Amino acid sequence: MSRTLDHLLDQNVIWAVGKRRDDPEFFRRMAEQQRPNYLWIGCSDSRVTANDVLGLDPGEVFVHRNIANIVHTSDLNILSVLEFAVDYLQVEHIIVCGHYGCGGVARSLTADRGAMLDHWLQPLTMYYRKHRALFDAIADEQERLDRMCELNIEMQVRRIAATPIVENAWSRGQTLNLHGWIYAIRDGLLRDLGPHLSSVEERDALPSIDERVRNPTEPISAMRRQAIDAFAAFGPEAMEGLACPLPTEMHGHACTEEC
Ligand code: CO
Repeated sequence: MSRTLDHLLDQNVIWAVGKRRDDPEFFRRMAEQQRPNYLWIGCSDSRVTANDVLGLDPGEVFVHRNIANIVHTSDLNILSVLEFAVDYLQVEHIIVCGHYGCGGVARSLTADRGAMLDHWLQPLTMYYRKHRALFDAIADEQERLDRMCELNIEMQVRRIAATPIVENAWSRGQTLNLHGWIYAIRDGLLRDLGPHLSSVEERDALPSIDERVRNPTEPISAMRRQAIDAFAAFGPEAMEGLACPLPTEMHGHACTEEC
């Protein structure tokens, strides 16, 4: 590996040439202006890159990432990104996307308190401590972490929904939809967790986040949701024994209701 990282710069040339070959106008369009319709708030984890998992080109998604996709309401970085995305780019969708197996979330479930990171993770740590008995009652460590990863996403969607930036957008009638998603590194698939929020009324109608430890929301893939919608007309019994809609090569694990 060269000291000047020439292998990466070479790869960039190959990428740019390929892009232009497929679409000669691509960079000219990019240079004019960006017009993304989505703001992605995700984890810094190197395996969860917004454009890749969404199959989107440059210019299509505005991105903010930090460890464990936490929304600190005093974080100038995320507030500036949010303000620019909502007020100037006028994105219609904000996606908070966490992922299973998040190292940041995992640390918040431990007693480690020695790093700057532990200040960052404090909202999660406090939530865990408050509901420790319920979390610790989940015997399987993996399952406990999964639950916290899911709850973290909803917590952050709610925090976004409580910012003056989002409240002001809603009060002036701007279309702005908030989504909570979770990504599974093991199969590359996104699942919808909710909540879906498009107004102050919807936000205020949510049950307390403290309720969610007992009553978690069920992650659902778009494919499964479509299958459920398609079969809804035939009644719930039609869903029984319905084959998993995912191609088998998409997952190495057994089909579950999670698919
Ligand atoms: Co992570």
